[in-house]
Amino acid sequence: MRRLRGIVYVLALIPVQAAHADLSAHAIAMNCLNCHARGRTESAALPTLAGLNAAEIERALLEFKYDKRPATLMPRLAKAYSDAELAAVAAYLARH
Ligand code: HEC
Repeated sequence: MRRLRGIVYVLALIPVQAAHADLSAHAIAMNCLNCHARGRTESAALPTLAGLNAAEIERALLEFKYDKRPATLMPRLAKAYSDAELAAVAAYLARH
C-alpha cells in the first residue's frame, strides 16, 4: 500500500513536470529582466540585451557558464541552468 501510494505520487507529478517545461523559459527570463530590463540605461556594468539575437545571447551565456568570458555575476547565474535552459531563455529573450 505504501509502495502504491509512492507510485501514484510519482504519476501525479508527470503532468506538472510537462507544464513546467513550457513555463520555464518565461520564468527564467523574468529573473533576467530584473537586471536587464528594457529601457534601463545601458552601462558596461549592466548591459542591455536589446539588439542581441538568440545565438549571441546563448553564446554569451555558455561562455559565462564555462568560464570563457570574464565577468562578475553572470558566471554564477549561468551555472545554475542546463545548456538547454540557457538556449531556451536566449530564444525567449530574443523574441520578447
Ligand atoms: C543580478 C543582475 C543580473 C541578472 C539577474 C542577470 N544578469 Fe545578465 N548581466 C549582469 C551583469 C552585471 C552583466 C555584465 C557581466 C558580469 O559582470 O557578470 C551581465 C551580462 C549579460 C550578458 C552579456 C551581454 C553583453 O552584451 O555582453 C548576457 C547575454 C546576459 N547577461 C544575459 C542574462 C540572462 C539570459 C539572464 C537570466 C538567466 C541574466 N543575464 C540575468 C547582471 C545580471
